[in-house]
Amino acid sequence: MNRHLHPALLALPLFVSSPWAQTATTLRDAADAIGLNFGLATNSYQVSNASSAYAVAAKAQFNLAVCENEMKFESTENPIGKFNYSGGDQVYAFVSANKMKMRGHNFVWGGQSSSAQAAVHDRASGLSILKTHIDSVGGHFKTKILEWDVLNEITNDGGSGGLKGIFWKTNIGDDYADSALVFSRRAIGNNGYLYSNDYSADGVNAKSTSILNMAKTWIQKGVPIDGIGFQCHLSTGINKADISANIKRFGDIGLRVSLTEIDIKQATTADWTALMGACLENYNCVSFVTWGLTDASSWIGSTCGCLLYNGSTPVPKTDFINALLDAMAHADPAVTAKRKEFIQRTPGTTALYARSAAFRTPSSGWLGAAAVPLFSNGPKGAVDILGRNQPVAPRSPWAAGLGILPQ
Ligand code: G3I
Repeated sequence: MNRHLHPALLALPLFVSSPWAQTATTLRDAADAIGLNFGLATNSYQVSNASSAYAVAAKAQFNLAVCENEMKFESTENPIGKFNYSGGDQVYAFVSANKMKMRGHNFVWGGQSSSAQAAVHDRASGLSILKTHIDSVGGHFKTKILEWDVLNEITNDGGSGGLKGIFWKTNIGDDYADSALVFSRRAIGNNGYLYSNDYSADGVNAKSTSILNMAKTWIQKGVPIDGIGFQCHLSTGINKADISANIKRFGDIGLRVSLTEIDIKQATTADWTALMGACLENYNCVSFVTWGLTDASSWIGSTCGCLLYNGSTPVPKTDFINALLDAMAHADPAVTAKRKEFIQRTPGTTALYARSAAFRTPSSGWLGAAAVPLFSNGPKGAVDILGRNQPVAPRSPWAAGLGILPQ
């Protein structure tokens, strides 16, 4: 692009280098222009002083936030039955005051769930505690959250497939994940998008393939899933083509993809350009979230070189920020138009949009229209208090939303 400019203009920062492209000067404005959520993980104490350098940067540069810790199980329900929403409420107050959006992280994880782990001892107690937690926390935040990490880090590492042996699985059984998604849809209605979020699945590899297969199964069974989160805890040497190809194959089965916990150890400008490029090539890549604002408070350590600011009074890494601005300014308008349409889809309608051959007969007919039981541990159609054993019926790809029966 610069080849068309008067030489005097070449010395200017990248974000004003292309007069015919978007000339946003903040990451937030640039992301807004292309229908992208550009987020950061934060904590209530970091945004409590609206005039601090941290809060000023967060609201100027980001249009989305997520609690780094304060909406996890042991922060919101500890002990079991005693709920505390204060951290999430405070972050939401900041988000709302600054017209940002919010992700919810998370309902189900093996980590930071000590209160649940101590109380869950069999299938019945597990399902009961899971459902009450999702009903309560989901109910409290349901109109405030755009994307929920219902499931966090549930997938076995490597290519073995299947679910990790965390306490939810060992007590409830493999269908805990299905139950969590169903409980979530019932708790929040169509107010937000339901995600499974995982690490080391950012490119095309055995783990991401097993997540893809799990997602296909959910869609075929009528279990509500709207998106997959790729955490993107990465190191320098980002492979744009690999990450882009992975995002695309989840779009082919109708799913949103969010890059949820980005940090790139010892990153270069090229790394940030590549990761943003991988996202922008795909209309279904809807959120790009850095796991913190500044290296100074990164979970990896203050010398990680992994975020967009450094210092406890955050100082912007202008090369990286300009690289991201430039990438967003030059996003393919056709992909952007498709993303803007895609993000309008109602939560719960993934199955209507799945394009993969896995969901179609040779004549392009729909394979998965028959009513199926959601859970297999009982007679089809039986309903119990926990919402197990309810058939998904009627279900048709042409009907609006998923036909999960009300409780
Ligand atoms: O809350 C206690 C506090 O009472 C105590 O004084 C303090 C002393 O160290 O510790 C506090 O707990 C810390 C907690 O964060 C809240 O600040 C833990 O020590 C610390 O280990 C914990 O780390 C978090 C980690 O998840 C826990 O696994 C990180 O901040 C957080 O960035 C990290 O986030 C995870 C995502 O949720 C899932 N994906 C991986 C990612 C990085 O590990």
